[in-house]
Amino acid sequence: MEGAKKILYSAVQPTNNLTIGNYIGTLRGWRELQENYDALFAVANMHAITVRQDPAELRARTLSLAALFLACGVDPDKSIVYVQSHVKEHAELCWVLNTFAYVGEMERMTQFKDKSAKHTENINMGLMDYPVLMAADILLYQTDLVPVGLDQRQHLEIARDIAQRFNNIYSPTFKVPEGLFLKVGAKINDLTDPSKKMSKSAENPNGSVFLSDDRDTVIRKFKRAVTDSGSEIKYDPSEKPGVSNLLEIYCAFTGKNISEAEAEFSGLGYGEFKLAVGEIVADKLAPIQGEWKRLLDDRAYLDGVLAAGRDKAAGLARRTLSKVYRKIGFYDIKG
Ligand code: TYM
Repeated sequence: MEGAKKILYSAVQPTNNLTIGNYIGTLRGWRELQENYDALFAVANMHAITVRQDPAELRARTLSLAALFLACGVDPDKSIVYVQSHVKEHAELCWVLNTFAYVGEMERMTQFKDKSAKHTENINMGLMDYPVLMAADILLYQTDLVPVGLDQRQHLEIARDIAQRFNNIYSPTFKVPEGLFLKVGAKINDLTDPSKKMSKSAENPNGSVFLSDDRDTVIRKFKRAVTDSGSEIKYDPSEKPGVSNLLEIYCAFTGKNISEAEAEFSGLGYGEFKLAVGEIVADKLAPIQGEWKRLLDDRAYLDGVLAAGRDKAAGLARRTLSKVYRKIGFYDIKG
């Protein structure tokens, strides 16, 4: 990082299987964004443990997610790819920022409320602290831009608030980051229930298309996707949520805009439309899956990428953290 470009930061949790929602909402943009920004992409394994994980699976998914970043076009010579827990400054800054975050506002976070309702047996402090750790991730690197899906908007707002609070009490210390939300695809919905977000942990696996799904599975899931009454293939999220969701997916995978897609499918039936969307998704996923598998067979290479990423990230993180410690008055031993 030479410092001339603006800084971009994003992360994904290594939980369950990633869906095309994760891909469309954020991952697919990374290849291009890294050309214009100094980018950091993290595997957020510290966030993942806010919901109980199987240790062996968490370990495996961490490496697999790093490989997926690269398979999606992240170039480790251009961007920093690392695992969150490898850079201890995340936990350290999180602790400081905890004293700038209010219990009331954390309790009001939509994701906290949803996850508490889903995991009633384990409403742990980490779950509530999740947005503060996310703020620490972002603020440690003096991030300008955070490309995420719409479900992370609230967390990004909190990160901005925390940065501003700290800056106001001390002096400008953190860059106040902006979110980058796509016009099309910032919220991809469940194929069986388009009123819900497509999720890695959906109860009905037919509603989520996973990045690891094979061609037949992808096409089968699209064929079964819920459409709406009427027969027109038109983008209208409130009246036609199923069709609109499929159009967004189609556009995300083809690079076409909504009106081009509507024109292409005009006069066709829902069956043909759903098949066409399924086929294009399967076609586009195939090379990513091939590269993903190839990378996963090269553990030594991946470890090398992650070690280099850790070192670069830690250097940058230390700079911000030292500044923070100085400003809040943590005693530093001389020499
Ligand atoms: P996570 O792992 O839940 O999701 C990863 C990314 O995918 C986006 N996303 C979606 N986009 C469109 N449609 C959907 N159905 C959909 N589902 C998920 C998410 O918005 C996200 O961009 N808290 C983050 C991880 C994180 C992070 C960070 C992100 C930790 N620290 C710092 C940015 C900056 C999360 O849980 O993402």
